Amino acid sequence: MKLYLDTAVYEEIEQAVGWGVIDGVTTNPTLIAKAGHDHEEQVKRICQIIGNVSAECVSEKKDDMVVEGRRLASWHKNVIVKVPLTPDGLGAGKVLASEGIRINVTLCFSVNQALLAAAIGAYIVSPFAGRLDDINEDGMRVVADIVSAYRQQEIKTKVLAASIRNPMHVTQAALAGADIATMPFAVLKQLFEHPLTAAGQKRFLEDYRKTQEAKPVQGQAREATAKR
Ligand code: E4P
Repeated sequence: MKLYLDTAVYEEIEQAVGWGVIDGVTTNPTLIAKAGHDHEEQVKRICQIIGNVSAECVSEKKDDMVVEGRRLASWHKNVIVKVPLTPDGLGAGKVLASEGIRINVTLCFSVNQALLAAAIGAYIVSPFAGRLDDINEDGMRVVADIVSAYRQQEIKTKVLAASIRNPMHVTQAALAGADIATMPFAVLKQLFEHPLTAAGQKRFLEDYRKTQEAKPVQGQAREATAKR
């Protein structure tokens, strides 16, 4: 399972790229607004340092979305165009996919919706696990069911577990067979954490320092050899 960052904050993406653990980024209008930058400028900047950058259409009508999707895709080869799981969104996605543009169908909440996304030849479908949990439905169950339906139907569309809220969601997404999980920067940082890693690393460094302190300094070592 590939790990993506769900953010439009450049500094967070830059840091995670430095750690070598992420393969892409998902943005949406809310995240772009939070980052406080111009959409085009920010997406182009992100595309300079990472591949697979989802940028979302905000038009409502199919024809407008086709024009917008082409414009988003023209910004950079790394852009994946996000369309909503609505009749207009899928209609536009179908046109764009037929032109070779990679499509991420967003706001998916059921297996049937995921089948619709696959039908237009989407590159990615994004089931929102956390938002399902928020309304007392099992979000990761839906992710697992989509994976299972796609496998049975030999569908190639990638399943991206989105709306991830905690590290447990990441584990569950991997066990469910999701192709990708996108998560906030705070959750990505939590994936590194384990008390035994922290304690083990502290101990190794302390023991290494002890061996350095026990070592005679160079001059003293020479004197000791001369006296012998
Ligand atoms: C994914 O592409 C979405 O941007 C995101 O995962 C939504 O997450 P949220 O429900 O935490 O807003």
